[in-house]
Amino acid sequence: MFRSLLFVPGNREEMLGKAGALPADVLVPDLEDAVPWAEKDRARALVGERVRSLAQRGQLVVPRINGLETGRARQDLNAVVCGEVFGVTVGKVSSPWEVVEVARILEELEGQRGVPVGHTRLIPWLESAQAVVHAYAIASASPRVVGVAFGAEDFTNDMGVRRTEAGAEVAYARSAVAVAAQAADVLAIDTPYVNFRDAEGLEQECRLASSMGFKAKFAIHPSQLDTINALFSPSDEEVAYARRMVQAFQEAVAQGRGTISLDGKMVDLPVVKRAQKLLARAESLGKRDPESP
Ligand code: COA
Ligand code: MG
Repeated sequence: MFRSLLFVPGNREEMLGKAGALPADVLVPDLEDAVPWAEKDRARALVGERVRSLAQRGQLVVPRINGLETGRARQDLNAVVCGEVFGVTVGKVSSPWEVVEVARILEELEGQRGVPVGHTRLIPWLESAQAVVHAYAIASASPRVVGVAFGAEDFTNDMGVRRTEAGAEVAYARSAVAVAAQAADVLAIDTPYVNFRDAEGLEQECRLASSMGFKAKFAIHPSQLDTINALFSPSDEEVAYARRMVQAFQEAVAQGRGTISLDGKMVDLPVVKRAQKLLARAESLGKRDPESP
């Protein structure tokens, strides 16, 4: 269970050094679009060297690799696969076959390295029209897939449309990714918010994404992490209300009733199930957040 995933450009040694101290649930050293072409090999070697130390503080480490079509994916995987790496995220996946092929390479590398086969999880990026159309097939292409990421910048490039703050141009695709993720029982992870000095804009985006079914969001700057963590966690009020509801409902069921009224609203089984899910999520996040009550 995670909420915030921080990108760190794979060629920026000083940023890789600082990342471990930041409150990100997941660290994502990037080998893909944050790294200029001329720096790609150096970044690969540097990230390969750093992945173990990045994992030392208990954050999950999930490097982003270049997609298969770049011809770099295999060597990227070769540089990062080890027991300390929770998974890899793959840029610009547009068909389920790419997931199957990456999973095959992972199986080979895990076998060679004594890493349990299946250990390395996958998070494909869905960021083209093709990807959105194939979203469910991609999300369910391998048991390694634990989440799918929606990438708004590449998606709007592919569509040839302008990216706006209001976001009407990505509404359908974003929603399609969230629905496909739920159908495949994996996490929907939202695109990074690029106006990283706009705290209020980020907050609005997190609320919107969360209301669409996203469970986590990428960050590009350390200042975004607290907001993302807070807005993708159930609030104290939500937890208290859910507890009260579950208890009242259990008492009602014991008395032979299947519906109750709580604070003037009808509560029946689907509403209670939602409250139970929220409590389960709060509990599993509580385990990640030692300072939370
Ligand atoms: N990871 C780790 N540390 C980061 C960081 C990141 N993604 N972004 C910034 N920092 C650090 C800086 O090194 C700086 O540290 P310092 O105060 O010790 O010098 C501090 O946070 C403040 O940074 P700031 O000066 O506000 O940002 P910047 O102008 O140097 O960089 C970006 C802004 C957007 C270029 C930078 O945040 C970045 O490269 N983000 C990642 C981009 C990325 O990976 N994109 C790919 C996916 S879309
Ligand atoms: Mg992208």
